[in-house]
Amino acid sequence: MIEFRDVCLTLNERPVLSDINAELAGPRVGIIGANGSGKTSLLRLINGLASPTSGSVHVLGLQPDRNGRAVRKKVSFLFSNPDAQIVMPTVAEDIAFSLRRHSLSDPERDLRVNQALHQVGLTEHHDHPAHALSSGQKQLLALASIIVTEPQILLCDEPTTLLDRRNTREVINVLNDLPITVVMSTHDLDLIRDWDRVLVVDGGRIIADTTGIEAIATYLKLVDS
Ligand SMILES: Nc1ncnc2c1ncn2[C@@H]1O[C@H](COP(=O)(O)OP(=O)(O)O)[C@@H](O)[C@H]1O
Ligand SMILES: [Mg+2]
Repeated sequence: MIEFRDVCLTLNERPVLSDINAELAGPRVGIIGANGSGKTSLLRLINGLASPTSGSVHVLGLQPDRNGRAVRKKVSFLFSNPDAQIVMPTVAEDIAFSLRRHSLSDPERDLRVNQALHQVGLTEHHDHPAHALSSGQKQLLALASIIVTEPQILLCDEPTTLLDRRNTREVINVLNDLPITVVMSTHDLDLIRDWDRVLVVDGGRIIADTTGIEAIATYLKLVDS
């Protein structure tokens, strides 16, 4: 589904990722590692926001650096900061905005918006001003605006970093229920403890590709050494 072959990424003459070889498939892949280790860069390669300097990336049979637009129709990106992802005045309008390029009738569009709202538990906020929501609700709205487009892969870059524990739990519960592949970087080790597949990134390399429990042990050893 997602394949990295001998990938290196150099930005401004700085080696950011080196010797990346991995095949990632769903349902859940976690990425942990220190600040600056390369987590965001790895995610950006998957939907063509960055292009490998050498080697190749294949996603759903496409190369994101060559078919970025086609890939981004199937692969969505959830950022840490929900404010940066909200574009329309009200909650329902913001979700409907994601469907602007889909040829849907008004009732079809409304149905999908309402389904997405229901999925993230924001039904009663349908007509509320998006910017009046709490940070956690804003992240759920950002998630609804993605879910409504029915991507096959969701890349989440530290999606709960700005949230308190309760909002983190709400966002992660929605993510865990999604019937699609989720690749998520996080510093909240509790979130990926039970996941079957977690990568540990250090200095631009994947130094472990294992279960959540073993990945956490590897990462903590690294931090303590
Ligand atoms: N445009 C850029 N030019 C030079 N270096 C960059 C650029 N973008 C990221 N980097 C460097 O690449 C490394 C990895 O960054 P990043 O992927 O954002 O790590 P993480 O998400 O794990 O914090 C960092 O050292 C960062 O400073
Ligand atoms: Mg990052």
